[in-house]
Amino acid sequence: MEAFNVRICVVAACLFLASQATGYTMDDLCKQWSGTGYIGNPSNCRGWGYCKNQQTVKWGTCGDELVFNAQTGSCEYATTTPCSTSAVQTCSAIKSPIYVANLLNCTEYAHCDGQGKIAYGDCGVGGVFSESTTSCKWGPACPQDNICRFMPSNIFVGDPNKCGNYINCINGYGTSTACTESPSIYYNAATGKCQSTNPCTGGNTNSGDSQFTVGQISEEACNTEDFDAAEALTVDGETVDYKYVSDSETCYGYYYCAKAGALGYWNQCPTGTQFNSKLGKCVSPASFVCTHNRCGNVNSKFMAVEGCLSYTICSSGATASCPSTSKYYDEVNNICTNTIPKYTICSST
Ligand SMILES: *[C@@H]1O[C@H](CO)[C@@H](O)[C@H](O)[C@H]1NC(C)=O
Repeated sequence: MEAFNVRICVVAACLFLASQATGYTMDDLCKQWSGTGYIGNPSNCRGWGYCKNQQTVKWGTCGDELVFNAQTGSCEYATTTPCSTSAVQTCSAIKSPIYVANLLNCTEYAHCDGQGKIAYGDCGVGGVFSESTTSCKWGPACPQDNICRFMPSNIFVGDPNKCGNYINCINGYGTSTACTESPSIYYNAATGKCQSTNPCTGGNTNSGDSQFTVGQISEEACNTEDFDAAEALTVDGETVDYKYVSDSETCYGYYYCAKAGALGYWNQCPTGTQFNSKLGKCVSPASFVCTHNRCGNVNSKFMAVEGCLSYTICSSGATASCPSTSKYYDEVNNICTNTIPKYTICSST
């Protein structure tokens, strides 16, 4: 009985953490930005901060009936501007109908009727809502869980989840990107430039196993056998000569191979995705079975074990199970459930 309760608490605690709109503070944001200017406060949509030399040097709150718009860096009327931290707050003030993300549950979206009411819709199993396109997408990464939501538009910042990568923030969104101009393959958040020496000093654990660095060269990776076995790639409908070959050690790393026998250059999938060698693409980890450490390159505390009857606790590598009343672990929604989730990782035995 004791153990049973503990497991429920573990999952409940992780639900709580996962449901935070973001876990970032203004200091976390400023640390990633080499520039100077206003940012939004991730815990209060009326709040703002001012970054300089990678630190929050000033902060404050917009006046009554105003919210801070981080993309424009100004206080704007809540009757026309969504609150970046709460759908409920947006709907209570906004005067025209609008769809916004439910920041407490990325599977859901909220519809404000423009007259103070809120209604929720849902993207279905495995879906996440994207506020920028007001559409549902395949998860698991939540598009809104992005520091760009609180940063000005058209700037470059470091990726807080993957030191050495950068994000180009545009209108509140951006994806983690690696510097590719060899040898300058590391982004330095302090200078806002790519450089050849690694500026990252420990403390960055989300990328999981890190035996590889972006741009690392392998003489073996593109051997004829593996190259021929790799999926042919098409770009704009045309088959291209190069292929991506799995690194065979991580779930998220692959080698770029110009042709069979060429030098392989290691690269990694965007955060939240993993490399499916059968497709030659980075995809949702739940959509295929990777037999290496599935905790790599995802910001998840738990990842399902094939079949979804147990899950891996990513911090320790230990395996745990859901309570017998809801025995399946759904890694996309981070819940224990009594119906087997429809992801490939769950359906295979
Ligand atoms: C999120 O919303 C979906 C759809 O309404 C629901 O099935 C799911 O249980 C919710 N997840 C959490 C963590 O509350």
